[in-house]
Amino acid sequence: MLLSLDSSVFIPVNDLRLIQQFLFCNSIKNRRMYKPAGHLFSFLFLLPISFSIRAQGFPEAYHYKMVKSIDCKHGAVVSAHPLASQAGLKMLYAGGNAVDAAIATQLALAVVYPGAGNIGGGGFLVASLSGGKMVAIDFREKAPLGAKKDMYLNAQGNPVPGLSENGHMASGVPGTIAGIFAALKYAKLPIQKLIAPAIALAKFGFVITASEARNLNGTEQEFRKYNSVLPAFVKPGGWKAGDTLYQKDLARTLERIRDFGIKGFYEGETARLIVEEMKRGHGIINYDDLKTYTAKERVPVQFTYKDIYTVITMPLPSSGGVILPQMMKMVENKPLASYGFETVKSVHLMTEVERLAYADRASWLGDQDFFKIPVKTLTSESYLAERMKLINPDSAGNSLMIAAGKISNPESEETTHFDVYDKDGNSVAVTTTLNGGYGSRTVVAGGGFLLNNEMDDFSIKPGVPNMYGAVGGEANAIVPEKRMLSSMTPTIVLRNGQPFIIVGTPGGTTITTSVFQTLVDLLEFNMTPQDAVNKPKFHHQWLPDVLFVEKGFPETVLEDLEKIGYKTKIREAIGRTELIVVHSPGHITAVADKRGDDTAAGY
Ligand code: DON
Repeated sequence: MLLSLDSSVFIPVNDLRLIQQFLFCNSIKNRRMYKPAGHLFSFLFLLPISFSIRAQGFPEAYHYKMVKSIDCKHGAVVSAHPLASQAGLKMLYAGGNAVDAAIATQLALAVVYPGAGNIGGGGFLVASLSGGKMVAIDFREKAPLGAKKDMYLNAQGNPVPGLSENGHMASGVPGTIAGIFAALKYAKLPIQKLIAPAIALAKFGFVITASEARNLNGTEQEFRKYNSVLPAFVKPGGWKAGDTLYQKDLARTLERIRDFGIKGFYEGETARLIVEEMKRGHGIINYDDLKTYTAKERVPVQFTYKDIYTVITMPLPSSGGVILPQMMKMVENKPLASYGFETVKSVHLMTEVERLAYADRASWLGDQDFFKIPVKTLTSESYLAERMKLINPDSAGNSLMIAAGKISNPESEETTHFDVYDKDGNSVAVTTTLNGGYGSRTVVAGGGFLLNNEMDDFSIKPGVPNMYGAVGGEANAIVPEKRMLSSMTPTIVLRNGQPFIIVGTPGGTTITTSVFQTLVDLLEFNMTPQDAVNKPKFHHQWLPDVLFVEKGFPETVLEDLEKIGYKTKIREAIGRTELIVVHSPGHITAVADKRGDDTAAGY
């Protein structure tokens, strides 16, 4: 609407806070865009227009810009969308801490990034607070009370194609709003303030980016198929970059949460709308499911790496809480730095370590509230030393095939991760998801929000791969109220006890290998934060027995890996890593992944 430079670039100029931000921060990639003189000119030029927009509560909604990397002094937010990063930054300016900023970012993502940001999904929050407290909040969805182990199988015992992936039956009981209220106890600002940006963005609209337009258009048929009431996400004639998306129903749902707190979602009108939606589409989530849902505060996983680093991450039902320590510990005493980045030696070692960890994931991991899982053994030094003996230093390993690890739907992946760091040293990492892009593709009519398709993360039948090709067994079988196993791995690293790295990514099963590789890139290969995020990643998950490498991986290394026995496959993109590195007090680098609309903000 305002001075759009091209289809997806909008100049942020009319908010005094932003101008303040530019005074303190250097945009590394886009420094030319932010020359103070240019700003002043644009500021004066746009001033009259800015008042009308400002009155609507979120002045940047019509003209924002992606910033991929910033250096700043006090605090930073990095998320999948510029407007969500700005919502978080506003809370830091308003005297909030990193938890306040994380809550505002999560709520804004639910509006501006509907493919994965959500209130109808779930996720994990990991925090390291300045007083030394470590926090892990589990707001993962749960299987509904009426769920059955074989609910996705036909009379012959075979999976019904798509049933766990699309439509009303695919949804677990949403956890995001319960997670936000569980996190509020560590925040400083009231929910009314934290939710205000999201309400404004939903009510008064925001302009969509080129990739959002592409994704919405690409999902139009599914939106039509899995909804009885056409949602705001469908635009006859199709979306294009720069169009405004209004979400009035979602705004009203957010207002009920603002006014009635957690009950504004799990009870009353919103609950009624969810249950009515379920009835229309033969889903099974009912009032009791909603009323009894609680987020759970868990003990974060903590382990040391090379004595000076403490890694803090999410425990089960995040598989990352087991396989990240496994992978890190298996390489800890290897001379990875001398092998070098993207060499056959380092990729071979890291791939074999990934293979071993993912084999354990498939066999052992699930929700430990429901299934006894030998976490201590799986992460013990002696166990890992035995596992390492299975690695042949000269040739590729061979996964024992128990089922074809077919990846059925890799393009529809969508989850989102964001990081916040504040001036007091509080660090927050959150990964949140609807599972696939736009989740179950079902929007709660009248509520305006998408429901997740997280039930597909359960093992719907032993050995049958889910949409990420992951297989599982009894530990991850469906049981009412159980949480499905996840790969989401929000992670914080302390160096000599001080915040150092905040990191995470979407990407289904590739999440944990991407976090593992980003940490190795930083801690072993001494890479810059920008390279650690943007250089090609690779991934092995035991089954299928394939080494996936991201586009841009050096071809000669690939050929040499094939010579020692790897089956390889190129993937378009692996993850969208968000990273904050605190080099020293007052020297912060925040990096947003180049693979999407992700944006770093700070001051
Ligand atoms: O919890 C999980 O592991 C999956 N539901 C995450 C899905 C995901 O990352 C998709 N995104 N790219």
